Amino acid sequence: NSIMKGGYDHYMQKEINEQPDSVLQTMRGRVKFDRQPKKRITLGGLVDRISTIRSGRRVMFVACGTSYHACLACRQTMEELAELPVSLELASDLLDRRAPIFRDDMCVFVSQSGETADTLKALEYAKERGALCIGVTNTVGSAIARSTHCGVHINAGCEIGVASTKAYTSQMVALTMMALALSEDSIRLRPKRNSIIDALGVLPDQIREVLKLDAEMLSLAEQLKEEQSLLVFGRGYNYATALEAALKVKEVALMHSEGILAGEMKHGPLALVDELLPIIVIATRDRMYQKMLSVVQQLLARGARLIILCNSGDSDMQEICASGGSRLIQVPETVESLQPIINIVPLQLLSYHLTVLRGFNVDQPRNLAKSVTVS
Ligand code: G6P
Repeated sequence: NSIMKGGYDHYMQKEINEQPDSVLQTMRGRVKFDRQPKKRITLGGLVDRISTIRSGRRVMFVACGTSYHACLACRQTMEELAELPVSLELASDLLDRRAPIFRDDMCVFVSQSGETADTLKALEYAKERGALCIGVTNTVGSAIARSTHCGVHINAGCEIGVASTKAYTSQMVALTMMALALSEDSIRLRPKRNSIIDALGVLPDQIREVLKLDAEMLSLAEQLKEEQSLLVFGRGYNYATALEAALKVKEVALMHSEGILAGEMKHGPLALVDELLPIIVIATRDRMYQKMLSVVQQLLARGARLIILCNSGDSDMQEICASGGSRLIQVPETVESLQPIINIVPLQLLSYHLTVLRGFNVDQPRNLAKSVTVS
């Protein structure tokens, strides 16, 4: 058993640390990094379908749990590169509503296991309505991989810990590659595509870098381990990071945690803010940075106890930190659409250490299953 864990104490810890390699596996043979004749993405399972997808009326992502968060994280990338409307559905809710789906809808079913009952049922529902169904799974031969018309394997390797970590980052890489493949013909988007492809090339090294925050995340976990609750604020590309970080803290550390869209702060969450409640604010440098800076200032004006996740060398945040009790988590910078992949890693480490310190079962949290095959 300890051999299976590769020298780590838990599978979750092993899987968090495998991410430099698992994201590389997701890209292997698919991303052509050099410029001649041009940078390209080749997804074998989708090549014949690219023009069909491009001519669809919308892309609909369907998933549950962490896989849903990966869809949320990549929604804007898909909108910007594929230039199609993108809707997001939690599989159970899609089924509860029996929401309209049409023949020219391109439905993308994202599931690590490929066996989640609700996602599978939603797939059958979409198929009956004539939509093109695309699978994004980590399990070759799984029910979802078999029932979809085409798809992409994320190739992250077997994930054993119930809380999904490396599958999440690989799902985001796979969905980004899909968006890149859909925009290949656009000359206007070429500079943007090239910068994302270049950033994918250095992503494994940047994840290796951010994993060095382990000791710092352990010390932060020491500070937070007795807390009842933890809020996580994010917006834009990193709204998903806030939700996913909160889900990790909830599901393994068994601590109440909520991911909050910072744009909704004044519509309720601000009432919770006081000197005691710890709040993580995700404020890496992207289009939302000025807004997040203002969120930080408004929270500090109410005496909030902040942990700010920002890019390394952010002098505004360093100053804020120096002048008060806030704590910083500094991470390497990448293009904004890939920043959620880097940002989640220290928060995975934090939830891992919180769980160990609180004495809970890391790999099999009470009441939860790796794969929910009944609905
Ligand atoms: C369960 C697991 C989660 C996972 C979710 C969706 O809740 O505990 O880690 O994100 O199912 O699973 P899937 O295999 O469809 O991605």
